[in-house]
Amino acid sequence: MSAVTYELIKVCKQSGARLGKLHTPHGTFDTPMFMPVGTLATVKTMSPEELKEMGAGVILSNTYHLWLRPGEDIVEEAGGLHQFMNWDQGILTDSGGFQVFSLSDLREIKEEGVHFRNHLNGEKLFLSPEKSIAIQNSLGSDIMMAFDECPPYPATYDYMKDSVERTSRWAERCLAANKNPDRQALFGIVQGGEFEALRKQSASELTSLDFPGYAIGGLSVGEPKDIMNRILEYTTPLLPSDKPRYLMGVGSPDSLIDGAIRGIDMFDCVLPTRIARNGTCMTSSGRLVIRNAKYAKDFTPLDHNCDCHVCKTYTRAYIRHLVKANETFGFRLTSYHNLYFLIKLMERVRAAIWEDRLLDFKEEFFESYGFNKP
Ligand code: GUN
Ligand code: ZN
Repeated sequence: MSAVTYELIKVCKQSGARLGKLHTPHGTFDTPMFMPVGTLATVKTMSPEELKEMGAGVILSNTYHLWLRPGEDIVEEAGGLHQFMNWDQGILTDSGGFQVFSLSDLREIKEEGVHFRNHLNGEKLFLSPEKSIAIQNSLGSDIMMAFDECPPYPATYDYMKDSVERTSRWAERCLAANKNPDRQALFGIVQGGEFEALRKQSASELTSLDFPGYAIGGLSVGEPKDIMNRILEYTTPLLPSDKPRYLMGVGSPDSLIDGAIRGIDMFDCVLPTRIARNGTCMTSSGRLVIRNAKYAKDFTPLDHNCDCHVCKTYTRAYIRHLVKANETFGFRLTSYHNLYFLIKLMERVRAAIWEDRLLDFKEEFFESYGFNKP
């Protein structure tokens, strides 16, 4: 039996979105779910206790970053990533595939793996499917991701075809390298860019390997939103309906709703925490830039429709003051609120699926959020 299993609860009659549960060795979470990103074994500024309290049943962390520091050996010695960071819920680790391509310089892709330079000190490094899985086995995540190539957008058909075929060969090597399949599930990643034939080829090659879950990668890399939606429309139906589907690197409210409508179960993105650190808040009436002078004497909450601890306790004027003065507490408050906002948004999405009204919910949500304010 696989380390994680997907339970389909129901399909929304109005939209086709899926309501489900993912059972992991560290508890069960409801889907569709948004996963906060904790790259360096911390969701920036947040305590694990706070994340758990707001209903984050799973977080994402990064193989590449933890390999460079503190080193997976230290995490393993601590008893694994859950113990190291005091998080007893689900953890998914990305494979480093994407980070090698987005962060490092001078990479050289070979059949064996990728040679590149450490983005911190320029040191020469090598990451392969076997190495990525060995690191993820040491970290002890519940869900590991296959080591893939995430090609830039746009890429040519010929480049993408070679890349998809290499990613499939790498996926097979990742499966063979997993030393702990009973406790750590490995998900495959469908690539293929905007080429329908290549998404089909990628999905068919990966599904023949029978992974316990599948991600759709290579999206949110600069392509327009309607292209992403079209790719999802033809890609999700290629994936088995009894396995979870994870859309990587996507976290704006509109993309979360649009993804759920197209059959996605899991999402992750640095967006809520990254924008929080420059003072941008997601609210029920769209994005709010707290640095704006108009909030200097605004003694109302960030979002009058939010019942998070921050909105119940602090004012826009106070948060603006902290953020402008670069006070750490200000970034904690904006991060807390933004994560709460997305986690509660997904709760509302799940309730709407249960009631067969996700398309109506989308309309209602954007009436106040505004369609052009991701
Ligand atoms: N994060 C966002 N997109 C991707 C992707 O295509 N591959 C991996 N491994 N991680 C991602
Ligand atoms: Zn709030």
